[in-house]
Amino acid sequence: MGAEPILASLLPDTATLTTGDVLVGGVSLRDLAATYGTPLFVYDEATLRSRCREAASVFDDGVAFASKAFLCGAMARLAFEEGLCIDVATGGELDIVLRSGVPASRVIMHGNNKAHDELERAIAVGVHRVVVDNFDEVERLRALVNPDSPLDCLVRVTPGVEAHTHEFVRTGQEDTKFGFSVATGEARRAISTLVEIPGLSLRGVHAHIGSQIFDVAGFKETLTILANFTRDDDFDELCVGGGLGVAYVEGESAPTITDWGNAIRAAARDAGLDPGVRLMAEPGRAIVARAGLTLYRVGAVKPVTQRTYMAVDGGMSDNPRPVLYGSGYEAFDITNPLAARPQRVRLVGKHCESGDVLIDEACLPSTTGVDSIIATPVTGAYGYSMASNYNRATRPAVVFVADGRAREVLRRETFDDLARLEV
Ligand SMILES: Cc1ncc(COP(=O)(O)O)c(C=O)c1O
Repeated sequence: MGAEPILASLLPDTATLTTGDVLVGGVSLRDLAATYGTPLFVYDEATLRSRCREAASVFDDGVAFASKAFLCGAMARLAFEEGLCIDVATGGELDIVLRSGVPASRVIMHGNNKAHDELERAIAVGVHRVVVDNFDEVERLRALVNPDSPLDCLVRVTPGVEAHTHEFVRTGQEDTKFGFSVATGEARRAISTLVEIPGLSLRGVHAHIGSQIFDVAGFKETLTILANFTRDDDFDELCVGGGLGVAYVEGESAPTITDWGNAIRAAARDAGLDPGVRLMAEPGRAIVARAGLTLYRVGAVKPVTQRTYMAVDGGMSDNPRPVLYGSGYEAFDITNPLAARPQRVRLVGKHCESGDVLIDEACLPSTTGVDSIIATPVTGAYGYSMASNYNRATRPAVVFVADGRAREVLRRETFDDLARLEV
């Protein structure tokens, strides 16, 4: 496995491999690396739009893009143009979305510790929904809401469903910081409290069981639990959260957004959910992961007794997922994408940590070496959004490509940017 050229199924929809280059959105990756430098995030707009449309068509109006997966003004506008709401989890995400021009009426506000100021702004601008997480937040809301214009909200419940995924991204189980437990009766108590607050209009229930989930069974189980509340309390909305997984490496396969939505719809029918109930979801990763790839330049190749280390000009500061979750990735050489990949290297970054490993055992062509430009595909989700300035690294630029043209949507940080907070 891995000796063959990179699989097309791990690349953006429009990717075309030629003998000496890769085109995405009709734009040469070699040219992008030369123009914008490396590391560089490249997103295929066609893939982003197609995944947004798929989600909008399979769920009811109000399906939201979980912006924590990747957020900038251009991304928020694109998701909005394609008919999605935008889910934000902090005041910072809310601010970026509002600055992008997306109306507040298409924003859903999340968070397990929403500060007074965050709630105040969400209410002042008129967000679409606030998803209430805990009793302290209920009290903060009670003090802020206006009975003359009630705030539409959902209540986040913890369904007790253990998703089969990494423990750091599992959220549906009882032992979690998110939501009100169904099993202990907290969820029911929260609902009774919320419906009595005159300035709140409780529209329905929400759950999010985790992230990078391949098996739709957990979502079906969640739907069934949420459907019981919806029936008992006569709610008109139900949200199953996000969490659909994507394939990162050869040998993995994930359900499509359509498969996921159809499985949830079937579970809704089986549970006898009133077809008038608005069925919502919040995919993040499944919208953006495969649309994006990262370009790096190789700077050093060091054989040691056990293996060969190949170091690139980025690393854990632009993709912390391997370090956080042990996540796997593939790599390919953009100047030689059709070649077999017999060379085995440990692909590492430039940070001062032994753990700064992007790929434990990457497969690359035998010709790849210093100054080669390589790409790691499926890095569109939780890469840039989790990027840091560790070692005072400047965060990479982000470029969107479509119809033979590239547009820079986030510029590369400069040393002046790094210095701007000094007082
Ligand atoms: C409440 C909520 N909704 C949606 C998502 C998006 O998850 P994913 O990117 O796995 O689809 C998350 C991710 O953590 C979340 O916490």
